Amino acid sequence: MAAPSAPPVATGMHPAAQPGMVHPSPVLAARGLLMTYGTAGTTTRALDGVDLDVARADSLAVMGPSGCGKTTLLHILAGILTPSSGSVHHDGTDLASLSDRRRTRMRRQDFGFVFQDGQLLPELTALENVILPRMLGGVSRRAATAEAASWLDRLGLSGMHERRPTQLSGGQAQRVAIARALAGRPSVVFADEPTGALDQTTGQAVLQILADSCRDTGASLVMVTHDAKVAAACRRTVAMRDGRIAQEFVRPAEDVELAGAAR
Ligand SMILES: Nc1ncnc2c1ncn2[C@@H]1O[C@H](COP(=O)(O)OP(=O)(O)OP(=O)(O)O)[C@@H](O)[C@H]1O
Ligand SMILES: [Mg+2]
Repeated sequence: MAAPSAPPVATGMHPAAQPGMVHPSPVLAARGLLMTYGTAGTTTRALDGVDLDVARADSLAVMGPSGCGKTTLLHILAGILTPSSGSVHHDGTDLASLSDRRRTRMRRQDFGFVFQDGQLLPELTALENVILPRMLGGVSRRAATAEAASWLDRLGLSGMHERRPTQLSGGQAQRVAIARALAGRPSVVFADEPTGALDQTTGQAVLQILADSCRDTGASLVMVTHDAKVAAACRRTVAMRDGRIAQEFVRPAEDVELAGAAR
């Protein structure tokens, strides 16, 4: 993993990606994932043999009923949870081969996260919420501020940089969370029910901003959702059932583009 270097340009492509192109070597490759929670007597098999590749600059929706293992899969792909068995490779590196410190650094540098309620820090302004993880990653305050401001403006939040999360609507707060996820120019953005706490119209708009921003920067998007309309913003959908991938569906690229153009 490279040490933090010159601050990246906020709107730049991830170096490994090309706009609109699905690169053949996967950015994430999961094989034989099994996940069992709990101890003897009270165990839950949350994943029961998942193989999954995520291509560069692609978008993947993970669907399925409550409890089928979607969040568990997302957290294992992102290196937040370690599977009971099986492997995840990111850019060819086995996550299990990394020390905790290197795995944390990889998450900070290569991955962005958007969760259901945004998880913004309430005592920080919108701008500070975006710059904090960048500064923790070694970027100077000046560079982090410039890229954060540019992302907030791009997501329609100019004039709101100094507001705290309680002074923002749910949709605005989620856009701050998207700015935070994308400011580091991640190779993968993970989103777990990113629009689950929003009304349908706001949720659709936020989702489209998320999908478009990922597409523009060449980041892959892995998104958990219950909503088929939300999943339609992604090129690929996998449907899980009882810890396995039961079905897969790929949309023609023009349909995904049209979904974006129709907002
Ligand atoms: N920390 C944990 N300890 C024990 N069991 C867990 C834990 N986390 C999840 N589980 C169990 O693992 C299974 C999969 O959970 P997971 O959170 O991955 O489901 P999900 O598909 O994301 O559900 P939802 O749509 O409700 O968010 C469920 O049966 C759940 O109860
Ligand atoms: Mg979940």
